[in-house]
Amino acid sequence: MPYCVGLQSAATALLSAGFATQFTVAVVVFLAIILVTSSLQKEGVDEAKFLPGYSPFHIVPFFRRRYDFLNWGFHATGQSIFQFRLLRNTVIVVSGESARQAFFTAKGLDLTEGFKILSGAIPMVRGVTSDLQTRRIALIHKRLANVQRNLPLSSLIPHLLEDTRNAMEGWGSSGKFDPFDNVYELIFQLTIRSLSCSEIAEDPALVARLKVLYDTLDNGTTPATVLVPWLPTPAMIKKLWATKEIYEIVTHAISARERSGTSRNDTLQMLLDSGDEKLVVVGFIMGLLIAGARATGTTASWLMTFLGAHPEWRSKAAAEVEALLASYPYAPEVSPGSTQEGRPTRTPADASPPSLASRLGTIPLELWENETPVLDAIIRETTRVAQPHTAMRRNLGPELYINNKIIPTGAYVIYPFSDVHLDPELYPDPWKFDPGRKEVSHVPFGMSAGAEVSTLHCFS
Ligand code: HEM
Repeated sequence: MPYCVGLQSAATALLSAGFATQFTVAVVVFLAIILVTSSLQKEGVDEAKFLPGYSPFHIVPFFRRRYDFLNWGFHATGQSIFQFRLLRNTVIVVSGESARQAFFTAKGLDLTEGFKILSGAIPMVRGVTSDLQTRRIALIHKRLANVQRNLPLSSLIPHLLEDTRNAMEGWGSSGKFDPFDNVYELIFQLTIRSLSCSEIAEDPALVARLKVLYDTLDNGTTPATVLVPWLPTPAMIKKLWATKEIYEIVTHAISARERSGTSRNDTLQMLLDSGDEKLVVVGFIMGLLIAGARATGTTASWLMTFLGAHPEWRSKAAAEVEALLASYPYAPEVSPGSTQEGRPTRTPADASPPSLASRLGTIPLELWENETPVLDAIIRETTRVAQPHTAMRRNLGPELYINNKIIPTGAYVIYPFSDVHLDPELYPDPWKFDPGRKEVSHVPFGMSAGAEVSTLHCFS
């Protein structure tokens, strides 16, 4: 009886409370129901084992310390495949060679859907960067492939080198810096240069503002913003404002270019000349800026850090670039703005000695791509050791099996690249940075899985 009275008065109090209280109570009850139902999971015979001692707080490390969390999962379950719940979502983590092959070849496993819930730093605007029709995604990939053709890349090189020179001059020639700030910032500038337009790339205040906004998206990505994006948490509201501002900056730049009637030699111009819908152009720039800057920025920051700790590889890299310069002697000054058929045009010789950036800017793309085995090995080794990425998919159906474990329709599937990149059988002493190690090419989907797979997805 006292309980009934208590419940009744609680119900009356709730009904007479304001919207804010009712809303909060509704959210708490909803989450409680989810937690209770989630914790009652028991796997069937062909289901992957669940993480032991389920607690929703285990999920926080999934977002914050993913590599450690997944490793812990393999150890705690003693299995090569296990599963856990992210609120109502089932997530299945797979490893091993046959699982890897199945993961990367199964038709129903969708990358875009996987990224949507398990990532979160991409600014989401419905119809622009999220909920895109397959046709629109394919178009964005096609345009990205265009950017990477020889001609646009060759035209970009002098600009990228000039941007780099500017940034490095700002660093000075002595003292300390944190590569994860300074190098990341430089790569952000280079990504803007490569994927958007000169109006933004040449406005340092605007680039700095965009970096702050993308950092807001990145840092504001919490389990709550990804799993319950409709919940108006402060982080979610900040993310919404940041997304809105990024959208405005990008659309403003596009409209200004259109209004100016001037044609420039950059990615925005290529996109506009292709005649795509405006939303594709906006989606391309908004989505790819972060996709490109984040992975490339962390890779480059680690690369500098490794070179700092390995003077022998630093010397080898410097010797390779010097040999390249010697094999392609500098002839008069290069104007970064003007290019002709992919090669920089030369203006009359200037009395002042050319900057290193100008000298490097005259080296053709083919030489960078084919005559730099040391740089290639350093980049490959950095992506192996320093990028414990996970590939993420959602099974759009039908249900399938990986290593005899069922992957239901709607489930998310994860493959950690560390499974192969840090496998001591393939890479002895796997945490050691050693660009001189033998290339692993005999393992299916094995070598530099990240690069191989993203190339496959982005550029085919
Ligand atoms: C060091 C540099 C980079 C690394 C290590 C890297 C790594 C990755 C990885 C691991 C994936 C997921 C692949 C999968 O789940 O199968 C991915 C996807 C993707 N990356 Fe990169 N990436 C890099 C640079 C870039 C750049 C510069 C761009 C854009 C210009 C880019 C655009 C994308 C896109 C669009 C996807 C999704 C692919 C799809 O939708 O099919 N990435 N990347």
